[in-house]
Amino acid sequence: MGKAKMNNYLLLLTATLLINSSAFAQKFDQLAPSPPMGWNSWNKFGCDVSEELIMGIADAMVSSGMKDAGYEYIVIDDCWQVGRDESGDIIVDEDRFPHGMKYLADYMHSKGFKFGIYSCAGTKTCQGRPGGRGYEFQDARTYARWGVDYLKYDWCYTTTQDPQASYELMRDALYKAGRPVVFSLCEWGQSKPWEWARDVGHLWRTTGDIVDRWDAMMAIFDAQKELARYAGPGHWNDPDMLEVGNGGMTTEEYRTHFSLWCVLAAPLMAGNDLRNMNEETRGILTNKEMIAVNQDTLGRQAFCFRDNGDYEIWVKKLANEEKTVCLLNRSDESKTVELNIPVLLKASDHYWSSDPYELKDYTMRDLWSHKNIDTGEEITEVTLAPHSVKVYRFIKK
Ligand code: GLA
Repeated sequence: MGKAKMNNYLLLLTATLLINSSAFAQKFDQLAPSPPMGWNSWNKFGCDVSEELIMGIADAMVSSGMKDAGYEYIVIDDCWQVGRDESGDIIVDEDRFPHGMKYLADYMHSKGFKFGIYSCAGTKTCQGRPGGRGYEFQDARTYARWGVDYLKYDWCYTTTQDPQASYELMRDALYKAGRPVVFSLCEWGQSKPWEWARDVGHLWRTTGDIVDRWDAMMAIFDAQKELARYAGPGHWNDPDMLEVGNGGMTTEEYRTHFSLWCVLAAPLMAGNDLRNMNEETRGILTNKEMIAVNQDTLGRQAFCFRDNGDYEIWVKKLANEEKTVCLLNRSDESKTVELNIPVLLKASDHYWSSDPYELKDYTMRDLWSHKNIDTGEEITEVTLAPHSVKVYRFIKK
């Protein structure tokens, strides 16, 4: 081969390789500009999932006001799948889902919801059902055919698999299948997905599973402290789904759990039985002022401004130079604390400088009492019940 010919050949080869490797080496953009909101079956129902349950939840989402508050994705977690047929297609549990998944997806879409499903990067799911390993492209095509909008992808039975490569493979498979899907990585934070998953998925679990207990919830919260800088529009840290309403914490503790997830800009996936929830639970999950903080367009995760041991101050910057401050009393006793309001308003994550905001330009609002606070006294005392929060928003006048 002559030199010129050889050069042309190499050029063509490089171009072909580039096109092939980049054609679908990306996630779907613009799908999660704010943290995804919805419901997932796992925390309350485990493997006890069915068409009847999921349709009932969708109906309850509407009648309870959850849909109106912004909850959108309805996700079936583990145990909907029972095997693979001779051509490798995944088989849905026919007893529990008699009309199949497309029917369910259509129902969700007809009610204005998006439909989510669960699988796993390993050979089996965490409950021992068939996993996605080796079937990534085939499964992605199946999900697209059914009308799936959200995929939670777990990390059981992965033996020596490389996490990044495994999740990239499924990302590429979803992209190739052509139907936009929110990709939720459930790798439990083991390989620090916040360092590599920004271009792979829209959210990634940062820890192991949540348990419906105060100390377990707080341990997960504590693990988010150093991760604020990794979150932003389209790519969120996921401290796991909500336990609000599942019975293992007090109403006050659930209000704290929900508030912390809101200021963390965490995905808000309810995990309780929406068909039977009491007024307290409903009130927490549908607090629109708290949800607005979570969904704020700036997409910042709160940082810890002061850690005084039992008592902490967390600050979430919002769009339009607004700010939310969350006071947290993690102790078993009530606490009275002195607040210097102008200092809170200026609180910044850049320790060498503070925000130049002046109190006169803001209204301070309590997001649980839904009342404005009189900031005439710049230093004020606040009493926090055990395991409780106060959440304030500084609203531009
Ligand atoms: C793992 C995940 C959970 C849930 C179960 C299902 O434990 O972390 O969120 O999906 O698997 O088996």
